[in-house]
Amino acid sequence: MNGSIHFYDYHPPVADIKAEVLGGLSKRPKQIPPKYFYDQRGSQLFDAITELPEYYPTRTELNILEANGEQIAEFLGDDCLLMELGSGSSRKIRVLLDALRPAAYVPLDISRDHLLSSAKALAKDYPHLDVHAACTDYSTEFELPELPGQLRRAAFFPGSSIGNFEPAEACALMRRVGAHLGQDGRLLIGVDLKKDNAILHAAYNDAQRLTAAFNLNLLQRINRELGGDFDLERFEHRAFFNEQAGRVEMHLLSRGPQQVMVAGSPIAFAAGESLHTENSYKYDIAEFQALAASSGFVAERVWTDDQQLFSVHCLRWAPRLN
Ligand code: AVJ
Repeated sequence: MNGSIHFYDYHPPVADIKAEVLGGLSKRPKQIPPKYFYDQRGSQLFDAITELPEYYPTRTELNILEANGEQIAEFLGDDCLLMELGSGSSRKIRVLLDALRPAAYVPLDISRDHLLSSAKALAKDYPHLDVHAACTDYSTEFELPELPGQLRRAAFFPGSSIGNFEPAEACALMRRVGAHLGQDGRLLIGVDLKKDNAILHAAYNDAQRLTAAFNLNLLQRINRELGGDFDLERFEHRAFFNEQAGRVEMHLLSRGPQQVMVAGSPIAFAAGESLHTENSYKYDIAEFQALAASSGFVAERVWTDDQQLFSVHCLRWAPRLN
């Protein structure tokens, strides 16, 4: 027997993608939001990255979830409506489902096909779970489908994807999540921690160059979806920890001066000019708890691994206390 699955498509139309990409390319420095990494190929490359020896976040977070599953389940509570932001392959939720029995699971992701196939597989493996998958861009004012009412709501935001947002944007995003949860709603969120530069550097400059391929795939996607003519050979992957800003930055550097066409517009690159493709903020535990508090959440619990590489926080939405 298969679990029930509902699918809602709020994927941004190509006209919006075009406007945002061209807008970013006209900024100085040039930039494109990291959510555009996740086309079909980008989602596959990201999944491969999560298996790399250098990329510690995914396996460390999974270990934390596994080691503390009982307490986490208690915090989220059975019979809740559990949303997941950036559900990707829905791999982490499976760990939680060993200990937790939510009434409904609502995976949200911008990568449509990946979301649909992952949600189908999950519904098949958990026949009693009511799955409402919504393809949506949660980085904006996102809408939710009409969901079973009455249920208490909880949200799971794993992977330190919160690190993709500037602290002020992260705060705004968490407030929007809080508003979708309602009073006392629970948010379980994974946050990557500040650490030795060498560990961070290796995680974003892996020996197999999968992270480079993931970064460059953005140009391929623009070529295909927006009629671009980027020559991938003429751009170079660059990733480093910006100590001052507290974030890993990813860039694509132009190998020499060149002009590229994107959706009919000429884009000029100087030699060595950067296209900034991602920020990945790293936090101390106290730093993130302060951010959570300023977003209207009470920090209830936090778990880490013994090397303090990664943290998983339990937060409760209580905007009036702040
Ligand atoms: C999915 C945003 C958490 O920042 O580590 C992996 C994406 N970028 N390698 C991260 C990513 C380069 C990842 N997040």
